[in-house]
Amino acid sequence: VLMCGLLYFYLSSIGVHASCPIELSPPSVVVRYGESVTVNCTTSETLHTGIGWEATQGGTGLEQVNILPWTVERLTGWDYSPSCYFASDFHEQCVKTLDVVIYKNINIKPSSESDKVLKEGDEIQLLCDIINVAPVQNLTVTWFKGNNVIQRDTFDNRTKIPVDPFSEFTFRATRQDAFPLFRCEADMDLRPGGPKLHVSSPGYSIMVQFGPDISCSVIELNEKETLEETCPVKGNPIPHVKWLKDGQLFDPKTPLRREDAGIYTVEADGLVNVTRNISVLVLCE
Ligand SMILES: *[C@@H]1O[C@H](CO)[C@@H](O)[C@H](O)[C@H]1NC(C)=O
Ligand SMILES: *[C@@H]1O[C@H](CO)[C@@H](O)[C@H](O)[C@H]1NC(C)=O
Ligand SMILES: *[C@@H]1O[C@H](CO)[C@@H](O)[C@H](O)[C@H]1NC(C)=O
Ligand SMILES: *[C@@H]1O[C@H](CO)[C@@H](O)[C@H](O)[C@H]1NC(C)=O
Ligand SMILES: *[C@@H]1O[C@H](CO)[C@@H](O)[C@H](O)[C@H]1NC(C)=O
Repeated sequence: VLMCGLLYFYLSSIGVHASCPIELSPPSVVVRYGESVTVNCTTSETLHTGIGWEATQGGTGLEQVNILPWTVERLTGWDYSPSCYFASDFHEQCVKTLDVVIYKNINIKPSSESDKVLKEGDEIQLLCDIINVAPVQNLTVTWFKGNNVIQRDTFDNRTKIPVDPFSEFTFRATRQDAFPLFRCEADMDLRPGGPKLHVSSPGYSIMVQFGPDISCSVIELNEKETLEETCPVKGNPIPHVKWLKDGQLFDPKTPLRREDAGIYTVEADGLVNVTRNISVLVLCE
């Protein structure tokens, strides 16, 4: 390996020459952890004492060639900044450093929050757990409800080593949204030079239970209208509804006549059982 400490000291004291006559090809690399890499350091200068790579893996000595590859068969570290040095008696010494991004594929841990049954007003934290990913600063996690984006998270940590980031989405159960289906997607766009990675979690399905809701306590309706249309009973699970008048079952689909006016009792059995007395007025047409 080169006497780099010394060379580096020298270079920083004179400042790196603006036109260092070496080229790195490619000038930056994106490599998957464990895979191989080759980058050429090239010079068109003929009169030089050598070019050489300084690196934690795959370093070389100064060699009097015009093209010198930095090659590693299997990248097993996370922080590489290999530098190619140019040494000459006729030109200022100089160096170019290669930008190496090492990535790992994205894995989302299966969630235990799927197929949950909630009651209206309950809150749940959905978790998107990502295992062993790098570089985390290039990761984006997007939450979807159906096909709509509801939250997007990025990660500031500039570490190069793999981490286990997570993203949380808080859902408050409402009846307007009784059967939501959530998922999280993780994306890492390392283009150009690297891949565009995309992983989706399985769906997190949730069911919201509510009711039964009896939508009225007094009804005024016209002849021929029905109790069922005028006072629907809603809920999840769908309630089993009985209408009674004077202790007798009454079919709520019956078109009402004036003489049907009176006090009705509605019994709705669903998530809970609700009974209510409803006074029904029937107006003439
Ligand atoms: C490096 O140089 C060699 C020899 O010229 C060439 O075959 C190879 O394709 C080059 N590799 C890169 C990454 O430029
Ligand atoms: C970044 O992540 C690393 C590894 O998990 C951790 O040690 C470090 O404290 C984090 N840095 C910041 C600024 O959060
Ligand atoms: C990765 O993220 C860093 C920090 O946000 C950014 O500077 C860099 O350009 C990103 N890399 C790629 C390949 O997009
Ligand atoms: C509601 O009523 C039904 C039948 O009357 C009964 O079987 C059920 O246990 C009741 N449910 C609740 C939540 O009280
Ligand atoms: C409905 O009216 C009947 C008869 O007046 C009464 O016994 C019952 O308690 C009432 N039920 C409710 C839920 O108000």
